[in-house]
Amino acid sequence: MRDIIVLHGGAGSSERFNQVLQKYANDSIDENDALSAVVRAVSLMEDDEQFNAGTGSVTRIDGSIQMDAAVMTEQSLGAVINIERVKNPVMVARSVMENTPHVILSGDGATEFARVMGFEDYNPSTERSVARREILLKKMFSSGSEQDPALKPFISMKGIRELARYTTDTVGAVCRMDGAFAAAVSTGGAFPMLRGRVGDSPIPGSGIYVGKKGAIVATGIGEEIIKKSLSFKVYSEIGAADLLEILEKAIADFSSSVGLIAVDEHGHASASNREMATAVARK
Ligand code: GLY
Repeated sequence: MRDIIVLHGGAGSSERFNQVLQKYANDSIDENDALSAVVRAVSLMEDDEQFNAGTGSVTRIDGSIQMDAAVMTEQSLGAVINIERVKNPVMVARSVMENTPHVILSGDGATEFARVMGFEDYNPSTERSVARREILLKKMFSSGSEQDPALKPFISMKGIRELARYTTDTVGAVCRMDGAFAAAVSTGGAFPMLRGRVGDSPIPGSGIYVGKKGAIVATGIGEEIIKKSLSFKVYSEIGAADLLEILEKAIADFSSSVGLIAVDEHGHASASNREMATAVARK
């Protein structure tokens, strides 16, 4: 069976990104092992400001940028939650797995750990992410905004004006190399969202899952993905049906945006209820 890596640019990402993802996939498959390949793929997408991860991450309602990332192999996992001011959260997640007795670090502790491990201070905001938040604030506090289904829950929230003193999606990769599986995800989160909010990406079984049968990552609105433990649900069905059928069934009852990519010992599949940029490379 040939080695394979599959990348996605997030549920809702335009397929015009397929070409750039293909470049990242071709580059990553040259790594020596599955974990290095998925970390390489995700860090390339983090460095590309067209994607909502690392540089280009969405800004939260209060103006901060907090990022989530995770890596997983059949043996272990590492994740960072709400980390700030680092260039490549996925590399910090790998470092949590390889250099601490823990599996997840969050908030200030995650950022502090990154500094100790030599990850330099870095501002991931871009002109686009700043402008997007400004537009959101204007819309939130203008008349008629309560008609917008994405804004409505925030506008009616107690204290929202104080929290707003002022937010697409995740990138991910799954790989099978020399018979071993690995997965990695990274995200700036959903838009709009409160400071402190955590999505599916760093939650094992929700945004990411790897076991002996394969590797899965999810993308989309984290709250719905967490409620359904989506990645583990897919994993538990591997072998019972065709992989694509499993993915399509798993997202069938979502009305919110969602996407999945997966590899098992026989092949790979991807599915989304939105447009989703993907790429596949083999060697
Ligand atoms: N899927 C990314 C998030 O909801 O944070």
